[in-house]
Amino acid sequence: MSDFDLVIRNARAVTASDTFDCDIGIRAGRIAQLGAGLGPGAREIDAAGRTVTPGGVDAHCHLDQPMPPPQRMADDFDTGTRSAACGGTTTVIPFAAQHKGQSLRAAVEDYRARAEGKAHVDYAFHLIVSDPTPEVLKVELPALIREGFTSFKIYMTYDDMKLDDGQILDVLDVARQEGAMAMLHAENSDCIEWLTRRLEAAGRTAPRFHAHARPMLVEREATHRAIALAELVDVPILIVHVSGREAVEQIRWARAHGLNVFAETCPQYLFLTAEDLGIDDSYKGAKCVCSPPPRDKANQQVIWDGLNDGLFTVFSSDHAPFKFDAPEGKKPGGEEVSFRHIPNGIPGLETRMALLWSEGVLAGRMTANRFVDLTATGPAKAYGLHPRKGTIAIGADADLVVWDEREVVIENAKLHHAVDYTPYEGMRLKAWPGLTISRGEVVWDGQDFHPRRGRGELLACGRPSLLPARRAG
Ligand code: URP
Ligand code: ZN
Ligand code: ZN
Repeated sequence: MSDFDLVIRNARAVTASDTFDCDIGIRAGRIAQLGAGLGPGAREIDAAGRTVTPGGVDAHCHLDQPMPPPQRMADDFDTGTRSAACGGTTTVIPFAAQHKGQSLRAAVEDYRARAEGKAHVDYAFHLIVSDPTPEVLKVELPALIREGFTSFKIYMTYDDMKLDDGQILDVLDVARQEGAMAMLHAENSDCIEWLTRRLEAAGRTAPRFHAHARPMLVEREATHRAIALAELVDVPILIVHVSGREAVEQIRWARAHGLNVFAETCPQYLFLTAEDLGIDDSYKGAKCVCSPPPRDKANQQVIWDGLNDGLFTVFSSDHAPFKFDAPEGKKPGGEEVSFRHIPNGIPGLETRMALLWSEGVLAGRMTANRFVDLTATGPAKAYGLHPRKGTIAIGADADLVVWDEREVVIENAKLHHAVDYTPYEGMRLKAWPGLTISRGEVVWDGQDFHPRRGRGELLACGRPSLLPARRAG
């Protein structure tokens, strides 16, 4: 008779706060016991000499998000969660995006159908509110938050998504009333449009000019404004995909003034620079067109510092999967177009965890505990999934990564997404997940993916634990 379905023996377990040696006993998909010399498991894995961390929670990725034609995302919930699993991520949170004129409820139901029966690991949804009608503000959004969709993104740029300041105040007020986490994409839309027109008039339309149209000041101004709007409403916010010093300074200022402003950053701001968009007019730079754009080496260091000193709570991929050589991707209609028309975003679901474990922890830039906080615990707390997700604790889902320390060269041909490139091609890493375990099942064994479409469940999110306790009255 076995005591457990699976025992991971001799693990060096790392959580956001502690590191300890133990066996991990798993029953019915959950961690049932932690301790030395646990009883037998139906299956046993010896992790001697290896580190075990919580499975990653990628709290910002885009999968099968409806796009204006001809654009289409390469990854759906099948290929996206396959790629996540093979890179050590066991929970993904993509976006149910409302389009202007659409009901928010309809957007969620459409997205639910897109995910149904496809995912290999668990998932939750953020909402994107792009049309805050009275019905959305008074009925749909409060109801959806109560049903477990407790976070939403607001765009300050992109014509088809952006809200004006008055609309942002209205939506933030719902977050305050209902206890939701508001995520802000902070870039000043009018400044970008003004700069884009000038660049186009001068014939500067190559991919690299995307970065010229979105200098740090447009991010700084919008970050400052987002903070002021949140202060007015008296609600915590989370600024997503922070790229460098100027936005970081705004967030530090807010924190110093006692405001609850959280922040997320992404691998592209640690490992890419604006030069990756091209030092000449080559169209290859389209591969790294994302917003905000990557900055420079000095700004990479600012981001490393913020990861270490607690400025950032969340490290996400912002996986936005557009093929490079495809009419539905970075070459709309098959053409090399002006940077204005290049779909924004880069792939990164599968590489996020290994990049930070290798170049952060193993390179001596960050502790293993901080890594866990940024990649799993922090995002689970920010979006109402903790302690079920994001930690190693009795009762938590048995979502785990057993790390292999070995040299790995990133090659797109070996990744499991459906995108035809990775911006990190050829990069040498010191480790890769040797096992990814999702609710007690091995989904990746270091060599092979173990598919089971539909095993991933849609998670209902609770009140984000980073929010203050519910107000009385
Ligand atoms: O360029 C990016 N980040 N594309 C994805 C959409 C978004 O704004 O996160
Ligand atoms: Zn964004
Ligand atoms: Zn995004």
